[in-house]
Amino acid sequence: MASWIEGDCLEHIHEIPDGSVALLLTDPPYGCTFRSISDRTNRTIANDNPEDATRILKESLEQLYPKMKDDSYIVVFSGDKMLADFINIIKSAGYCYQGVAVWKKSHHTQGSLISGLRPITEKIIYATKGKPVLYDAICDHFEYPNTKNEFHQTEKPAGLLRELIGAMTVPGDCVVDCFAGSGSSVVQAKAMGRNWWGCVLDPDDYQNGYMRLNESMAEAA
Ligand SMILES: C[S@@+](CC[C@H](N)C(=O)[O-])C[C@H]1O[C@@H](n2cnc3c(N)ncnc32)[C@H](O)[C@@H]1O
Repeated sequence: MASWIEGDCLEHIHEIPDGSVALLLTDPPYGCTFRSISDRTNRTIANDNPEDATRILKESLEQLYPKMKDDSYIVVFSGDKMLADFINIIKSAGYCYQGVAVWKKSHHTQGSLISGLRPITEKIIYATKGKPVLYDAICDHFEYPNTKNEFHQTEKPAGLLRELIGAMTVPGDCVVDCFAGSGSSVVQAKAMGRNWWGCVLDPDDYQNGYMRLNESMAEAA
């Protein structure tokens, strides 16, 4: 399977064959009403208010449950404010919550200027369906520099994504990202010989992902 889809994932998840997904690796809207201050574009992220973010995560995880293999992993990036809500959604969709890993960056982002500690970490919730086994004994703490956000304002580090994909899947397994943005997760899955399925709502993100996936195809040739 190799699919890069533009649209609302809630209208496309049904296209994934039942019992086929070894890893859901996704970075959904955090529900923090993100607005970029690192450039002058004032870019926002669709469905990033708390109500929509929780609704689409809940509905996507419920739809994905039968699509997951009997023994499989789900990994969901999260901000701090919605962390508890996201964990509850994961549990109520039927997955077995395992823990929260941490990505420590090289420098902090702005956060709340008045009352908050300066955020230098992002959280990574992981859960299982059935009893999968890890192929690599990785730890729950990753240190990678802040991303340059060349293709998307909330990109995740390639090395971190590769550690997760390498530990939780083997070549030929299927990795899915239903909130794929510019495709960071599926680009790495593809480069690592996994099958992949990615969906994204925003047409600009779709084009960025399309370009990255085709570039990685050209590199492999
Ligand atoms: C936090 S960003 C993911 C960025 C990604 N990690 C990257 O490296 O490009 C979340 C993405 O989910 C997308 N999104 C929001 N609602 C969606 C939906 N219903 N279906 C598919 N994508 C959606 C947003 O447009 C945004 O690109």
